[in-house]
Amino acid sequence: EDPRINSIRTKIRVVPNFPKQGIDFLDITTLLLDPKVFKNTIDMFVERYKNKNISVVAGIEARGFIFGPPIALAIGAKFVPLRKPRKLPGEVISEEYTLEYGSDCLEMHVGAVQHSDRALVVDDLVATGGTLCAAMNLLERAGAEVVECACVIELPALKGRERLNGKPLYILVEYHS
Ligand code: PRP
Ligand code: MG
Repeated sequence: EDPRINSIRTKIRVVPNFPKQGIDFLDITTLLLDPKVFKNTIDMFVERYKNKNISVVAGIEARGFIFGPPIALAIGAKFVPLRKPRKLPGEVISEEYTLEYGSDCLEMHVGAVQHSDRALVVDDLVATGGTLCAAMNLLERAGAEVVECACVIELPALKGRERLNGKPLYILVEYHS
């Protein structure tokens, strides 16, 4: 294992019973407080994607906005924010996805990606995979090719990987509850 992985794992704080009883919240804000570990996190993604002809990094609101832009800058790709509903001012396409209770939605500006774009989807964490699935659908509806999804953390027990239709998912840390 890459020696940087353990320091990344160590800096993720587990907050029991947040936002509700029985849920372990994986908090990446503690990782961000250590510039060396934050940099190592970004570097690991950059090393993986720098020679893969990625032309767009799509970051998922909100926590994908923390990790996506530094990766995009380092590999020379454009950054496209995938936002929660009614935040983007231009014409959008939308994808609804289901949560444990109810549903949510992601939106992307029309014209943000082209048919020739090769996309990387970035978020902090994959749980059920619903969020990544909606993000991939947006990019593919707009004609982009999704090369891979990248997250800092995976919760394997929730089997999010199985919702990605075989699309590769790269993660740094697995959390087993
Ligand atoms: C969390 C997390 C992922 C998503 C993963 O975001 O940051 O985006 O849930 O869950 P899933 O794999 O089951 O879809 P959340 O929507 O809680 O909000 P935030 O990023 O805006 O804080
Ligand atoms: Mg999120």
